[in-house]
Amino acid sequence: MTFTLPRRAALAALATLAAWQPALAQDNVFKIGLVLPMTGQQATTGRQVEAAARLYMAQHGDTVAGKKVQLIVKDDTSLPDQTRRLAQELIVNDKVNVLAGMGITPSAMAVAPLATQSKTPLVVMAAATSSITEASPYIVRSSFTLPQVSVALADWAPKNGIKTVVTLVSDYGPGIDAEKFFNQRLTFNGGKVTESLRVPLRNPDFAPFLQKVRDLKPDALFVFVPSGAGAAVMKQFVERGMDKAGIKLIATGDVTDDDQLNDMGDGALGVVTSHHYSAAHPSELNKKFVDAFQKANKNLRPNFMAVGGYDGMRVIYEALKASKGQGGGDALLAAMKGQIFESPRGPVFIDAQTRDIVQNVYLRKVERKDGQLYNVEFDVIKDVKDPGKTK
Ligand code: DHB
Repeated sequence: MTFTLPRRAALAALATLAAWQPALAQDNVFKIGLVLPMTGQQATTGRQVEAAARLYMAQHGDTVAGKKVQLIVKDDTSLPDQTRRLAQELIVNDKVNVLAGMGITPSAMAVAPLATQSKTPLVVMAAATSSITEASPYIVRSSFTLPQVSVALADWAPKNGIKTVVTLVSDYGPGIDAEKFFNQRLTFNGGKVTESLRVPLRNPDFAPFLQKVRDLKPDALFVFVPSGAGAAVMKQFVERGMDKAGIKLIATGDVTDDDQLNDMGDGALGVVTSHHYSAAHPSELNKKFVDAFQKANKNLRPNFMAVGGYDGMRVIYEALKASKGQGGGDALLAAMKGQIFESPRGPVFIDAQTRDIVQNVYLRKVERKDGQLYNVEFDVIKDVKDPGKTK
């Protein structure tokens, strides 16, 4: 069918209006684009962060400063090219007010330039390489950094009979941060890293590395692997009889991940780690958080990724309230900076200068409590800023 010109023009005008009307209706919607690995090797991170974000919304309502909060969850399968593509679509098509999530460092790095160009705040809820916050002035972080948690363990180790250490880390941003900051601090404290081993991030096989550690026979093996990979390390460490050979396992809390810890078995007992969150953190707020999270998620125990998602939502909600629902990206960002609040992990602060999180770091030991394995905190270093910041 052919139309006469005026009719076509009228139709075109209608089409424009139709496209415009949802935009009007959406004026009262506040959109959060949550990009996470929901499938693939990092899927537990996505599951934990999404569940925590939904819990926060269920507890605090989905209307804030007169706006209806809408969570749009996208699965990037932990491939940074996917993260970038999805973030681009969320900015351009969905016109999200805030981007959030970011399961691994390469994802956060891939989205950083888009956040800058579009002036969209990006709340990094999981990824933990120190330099992420320096990749865009629009990044705010609610997770942690590897330097932040690694130095505490390098202070603890030499005071507890550990002088020689082999480090074993995943070969990318957070692993390299952990290796560097652990080594520097241990050396400063009079200890020595005798070998630094790196395993690939994708499909790692720990066996040949652990054999090497056995031969080197250090006092301890220090490990960082990302959330989800800890159980495999623990299993192989025990199977190879490393503990019986007198080599202690020490690690960042990513290894004794609460998502997996309870299934790791007795081999995990006594492992000392440093981290910012344990599901066993003995505060009233944390008990309520863990209970509510487990009720809403078939008894799944929240891990440190969940707490990053939960607190990230808090940062977004409070920024929306403070800017009275009126501001764009810059107003939201300004209201995210400097927030101080009690998290299930303890007191936290979003440093206005660095946009990174300042928090307590705990030393913990795996113990059996009420028949379940937990990271039980036995010491705390208060208000730790990321030691990795160059400025
Ligand atoms: C990162 C991912 C993790 O799962 C983790 O535990 C720590 C850091 C990251 O890619 O930044």
